[in-house]
Amino acid sequence: MKRGSFNSKLGFILAASGSAVGLGNIWKFPFEVSNGGGAAFLLMYLFFCFVLCFPIIVSELAIGRNTKKNAIGAFKKMGHKKWNFIGKIGVFCGVLILSFYTIVAGWVLGYVIEMLAGNFSISNNFSEYVNDVDKILIYSTLFMFFTALIVSKGIANGIEKAAKILMPSLLIMIIALIIYALTLPNAIDGIIFYLVPDFSQINLTVAGNALGQAFFSLSLGMGMLITYGSYVDKNTNIINSAALITLTDVGVAFLAGLIIFPFIFSSGIQSDGGLGLIFEVFPKIFEGLGSITGTIIGSIFFILLSFAAITSTISLLEVPVSFLVDEYKVRRKFSVWIVALIILLIGIPSSLSQGKNDFFTNFITYYGKEESIDFMTFITDVSNDTLLPLGGFLITIYVSSVWKKSNLSREISKGNKSYQGSIMEKYINFSINYICPLILGTIFVLTFFNKFFGFS
Ligand code: TRP
Repeated sequence: MKRGSFNSKLGFILAASGSAVGLGNIWKFPFEVSNGGGAAFLLMYLFFCFVLCFPIIVSELAIGRNTKKNAIGAFKKMGHKKWNFIGKIGVFCGVLILSFYTIVAGWVLGYVIEMLAGNFSISNNFSEYVNDVDKILIYSTLFMFFTALIVSKGIANGIEKAAKILMPSLLIMIIALIIYALTLPNAIDGIIFYLVPDFSQINLTVAGNALGQAFFSLSLGMGMLITYGSYVDKNTNIINSAALITLTDVGVAFLAGLIIFPFIFSSGIQSDGGLGLIFEVFPKIFEGLGSITGTIIGSIFFILLSFAAITSTISLLEVPVSFLVDEYKVRRKFSVWIVALIILLIGIPSSLSQGKNDFFTNFITYYGKEESIDFMTFITDVSNDTLLPLGGFLITIYVSSVWKKSNLSREISKGNKSYQGSIMEKYINFSINYICPLILGTIFVLTFFNKFFGFS
């Protein structure tokens, strides 16, 4: 069976950036920023992305390209089968993420329809909307269907082709909305909140959230980049690719903030942040624009969100599929539909956890906390904020002490002749050996006990 590959460098960059740019940038990032004290959160997030995450992106891509294997098989191929537990944690984590991501993507898809119909009042009934679980599950199933359809067509004909259409459209929509947002009255108050840091807001919880957000947003720490890296040829420059992926992801998150905060501040609508932020606030804003402009801007906004989401769900689905295809020689089409179905079923508790079902809504109360949290939040705590940074940490340990930096350098220099001996090489090696394990390890341990055991 022939293993797929990307047809062009651009196609790979677009697919990998498409994975990175998603609901994490546009839905999750703004409420993380507002909960984390605006610009103080933003600064930490930027630091984590460029200093801690960048060397790990490079490592994941190098491992993938070196082995031409999926997230689990890669470790075996390198002769370190014992370490494939890193890939196993990753695949497990990806399944968890895709299960709730598909539910949120279902909300988004439903909103596209509501906005096209000019039904702005949906925002007043957001909790009713998400608890109409039958309807949401239909939207989520539809979303998963499109995802699976694309993934079933393979790397070049499915994933790459979709990214080449969706990513440029996404960029055009974002630019159009920014221009519009900046012309709104009071836009500047939103910009100030967003861009002027209040350092008193920085604490352990905020740091932990910023770290989790950086990993989630970059699709890092669960072998997605090992998988995509395995479809890339030897001439691809890994350093430049990693830089482009990081810049695109951070850039889109940053630009999304430039859309969202002016919109919120100019509308004067109060929001408690949280998962509902864009769903509750935005339709009200669109309504205020008048029915025609509102329908147009509102539909564009939620279509943009769906486009961003589907290039991400594609990458999340590809990780377990690639594992089954490589290791068990299961046919691609068959594994795609089976995995998609299983993940949809795993997502059902998340869809019930927003009020519909009491058990999943008040799923767990962490040690030392008063309030219980719902199942979906619990899953995001476990996957985004715990397993992803843990996976990233383990990869740095693996590269520095098992695979060794000489092998990393050799792989990177294949598409980058001037790499060996360069400052970039010294920086990557130093980070992988010292900075990443140390800082990542420390923040990880502290935030783990902070989140789950109330340590402060
Ligand atoms: N990065 C995506 C977002 O920001 C989500 C995502 C896609 C992801 N693939 C991933 C997160 C792999 C973690 C791991 O929405």
